[in-house]
Order: sequence, then structure tokens, then C-alpha cells
Amino acid sequence: MNTQTKEQNRQIEELMKEFISQTVAFYNHIDQEPLSRPADQKTLKNLAKHPIPAQARPLREVYREMLQDVYSDALLCQHPRFFSCIPSTASLLSWMGDVMTNAYNPHASCQINGPSAALVEEKLIHWMCSLAGFPEKSGGLFVSGGSIANLTALTAARDAKLAGRQRENAVVYVSDQTHSSVAKGLHIIGFEPEQIRIVPSDFLFRMDMDALKAALRKDVSEGRRPFAVVASAGTTNTGSVDPMTEISALCRKYDMWMHVDGAFGASLLLSQKYRQDLAGIHLADSLSWDAHKWLLQTYGCSVVLVRERSNLVKSFAAHPEYLKDSQASEDSIEFWDLGPELTRPARSLKLWLTLQATGTEQIGGIIDRGCAMAQLAEKIIGRNPRWEIICPAQHGVVNFRYRSDGRLRERELDEINHRIAKEITESGFAQIYTTQLKGKTVLRMCTINPETTERDIRETVERLMEMANAGTEKAAS
Ligand SMILES: Cc1ncc(COP(=O)(O)O)c(C=O)c1O
Repeated sequence: MNTQTKEQNRQIEELMKEFISQTVAFYNHIDQEPLSRPADQKTLKNLAKHPIPAQARPLREVYREMLQDVYSDALLCQHPRFFSCIPSTASLLSWMGDVMTNAYNPHASCQINGPSAALVEEKLIHWMCSLAGFPEKSGGLFVSGGSIANLTALTAARDAKLAGRQRENAVVYVSDQTHSSVAKGLHIIGFEPEQIRIVPSDFLFRMDMDALKAALRKDVSEGRRPFAVVASAGTTNTGSVDPMTEISALCRKYDMWMHVDGAFGASLLLSQKYRQDLAGIHLADSLSWDAHKWLLQTYGCSVVLVRERSNLVKSFAAHPEYLKDSQASEDSIEFWDLGPELTRPARSLKLWLTLQATGTEQIGGIIDRGCAMAQLAEKIIGRNPRWEIICPAQHGVVNFRYRSDGRLRERELDEINHRIAKEITESGFAQIYTTQLKGKTVLRMCTINPETTERDIRETVERLMEMANAGTEKAAS
């Protein structure tokens, strides 16, 4: 190695040591940090003008610049009072796994490139399949997120159920609460919007079975080919779980594929208390499960599981001449045969490290606690007659709405609730977004961060109430 590289490596070592100490100190006090420090316009303008240099710049200078101008204004999705979207539960263990994996940069496309890393991935897939109750012939793959997991599973569904021209006449059933990545995935794999039936949901935002049955009967009577139902195990809006056992019976009756989008909720399988809420998940043909949602992982860590691994092989197997020498044996199945990617990072290793160092019982406890926090928010809000619970706490999510004294019109209430979300988010104390449920603008809290305390919940709800009252008084005066 030349002396210049060695000198650069020495500087990297020095800066990385400093970075690690600073980062750990930051995370030890994250609750005292604002959720985000928006970048000032000057910084953004400078960054926009920044050239890609022809000559090397001092590493220390680049490092400082990136810390100050790029990383410091990022929204902290792992902040204990980040309650919007699906908060990140990422633990420093996952970050440590990221750093270690990226340092060695394994090319996790096949077994020969890293037999131990391949074994870790296979063991984790096997473990997750067993938790879901899938049979021995099941399998799966680590992918970058729930969207790609859904896309991969739906591709397998299409290829398993539809031959050639049948695709044109096929229909797939989702609910009005299904995540948008499903429609996106269906579009990518060639389905038109008219081929997607949006089934309404019931009072707890679960797919309505009577409506699904009616839609199926109609499509069959009109000569169409129902080929898949996408059930949700933990919807993004309300944490609802669709009736999977009943959906599976319909799938059998009409020869359809049942995909379960468990990107958010499949982690409930680790909870002794809530795993029963996923009854029927074992009947799925495929399942998406994000480890970067509720299994403490940094982003880019999800799995797609299938009841029969051969279905992934059927859709994705590739045998170009330049990969022949990378195959473990003539008929071995490699990771590139199971999904769309060839070069891929070893995403399973950080999850392995986290599970080994944490244990599944503790993670189950974290999940139970996340659910309890949403229940606490519901309890406090439900006691105040000026507020209404729109959907009770389900799996760490609660939806509610300021209703004032009941005399304001729905449109005015929509605006007030929007304003409350904006105010609390802009205050930097907590982040809450609105969503739409049954035509109303509602406030939504997802409380799954393991570091969120009861005090965080109480203080956030108190501030919401103060903001609602202050706004109403201002409007009245
Ligand atoms: C239920 C559900 N499915 C799929 C996704 C998409 O996952 P990702 O953002 O990892 O692509 C999400 C994201 O929030 C989700 O909540």
C-alpha cells in the first residue's frame, strides 16, 4: 500500500474514533435534542454551489463540512417523540452492524462470496418463516424495504397464478387501507389501475369481508380472473390487521394468491401478548416484513418470505455465463435467483448482531411497550370531551381528532387539526402528522420507539391540547 493511502487511512482512523464517540454521546441524550434543525438557506445555497473538485481536499475539512452541513439537519426519525409515519426503532447495535458490514463490503449475491454471511441470511429467513408458521419448503430473501418486498412477492404471485394472456383479464383485491407501495408494485409489473379492486374497510379499518365477497362474485360473473388478495398485517394508518383466515379461505375457493403486507406488523410475531392478533398469517403465500420498522434496524433491512421458495426461483432465476463460476454447484440456488438484485449488501448481518446481543424476549417486550404507549395516549385523549378517538390504539398506532365543543363544521375541524399537527411539528418538541380516515382529517400517533417514555406521551398530548385551546380562543376573539 502506498504511503499516501496509509496516511489517509491513519486520518480515517482518527476521525472515525472521534465520530463514534460523538455519535454515542449524541444518542445518549437524543431526547434532549430537537427533532430536526432545519438547514438555513445559506447552508443549502453553499451546498448547491459546491463543486466536485478536480483535486483532493483535506479529509478533516470534508468531514467537518459534512457533519455540519449535511447530517446535522436531518430529521431524527429515531427521536423518542417522532410519532409520524412509522418511526425508526433503530438501535445502535444495528448501526454497529452496518459499520462492520460496510467495512468488509461483502457481495452478498451468492454463497461462494461469503459462505458464513450466506448461512446467517438463510438461518434468519428460516427463523422468520417458522415464526410465521410457514412450512419447510418456504424461503425468502433480504431486500431493501417493504416496497421492494411487496413488489417481489407480487411478481411471484403473478407468475404462479397467471399464464401469458391471462394477465390482461386478471384482478387483484386490496383494501382502502393497503399501503401505496402495493399499487406501485402492481403498476411496475404490468397491471393497469382498472385491475385493482379497492375493497372498503370496516369500523376498525380492516378489509370488509362482505364487500370482498361481493367484488369477487361480480368479477367472476363478468368473466374476469381474480388472482390475488393483499391482506395487511398492521396498516400504516391505524395498525389494523385484516381477517387473514377468512381471506385465505376465499383465496383457496377462487385459486388466488394471498399476499400479506406485514411490513409494519409482522414483528408482532415476537410478542407473546399480540402474536395471536396475526391469526391466519401462516396461511399466506407470501409475506413482507420490515426489520427496519419494528426490529430495531437502520434503514434498508426487510424480508420477503414465500410459502414455497420455488415460486421465487420461477420468477427470478438467472443463469448468465459470467455467473457460472460463482455458483456453489451446477444446480445450487443463489440469492440472485430469488429476487431482482444481483449485487446486494449483506443486510442480514446487522439483524443477526442485534438479535444475538438483545435476545428475542427483550424485543417482544419492546413491542408490547410500543402498544402500551398508544393505549396510554388513547386513555388520556379519550377522557377529554373536546377530543374524539377516531380509531382506538391498535398495535402501537392511535388516531384522534380535536372536535371542540361539537359546534364547528367538519371543514373547520379539518383545518384546526391540520394546524395543530403543523404547530407541534414546527415546535421541534414532537412530530405528528395528520392522515385522512373516513373523509376526516385526523391526528395520528405511532408510538413504537423503545425510548419513548410515558412522560413523552403525556407531555406531547398536553401540548396538543394547549395548542388546540389556544387556537380556538384566538379564533373566538
Ligand atoms: C404497511 C406498509 N407496507 C409497506 C411499506 C413500505 O415500506 P418501505 O418504506 O420500507 O418501502 C410501509 C411503509 O411505511 C408500510 O407501512
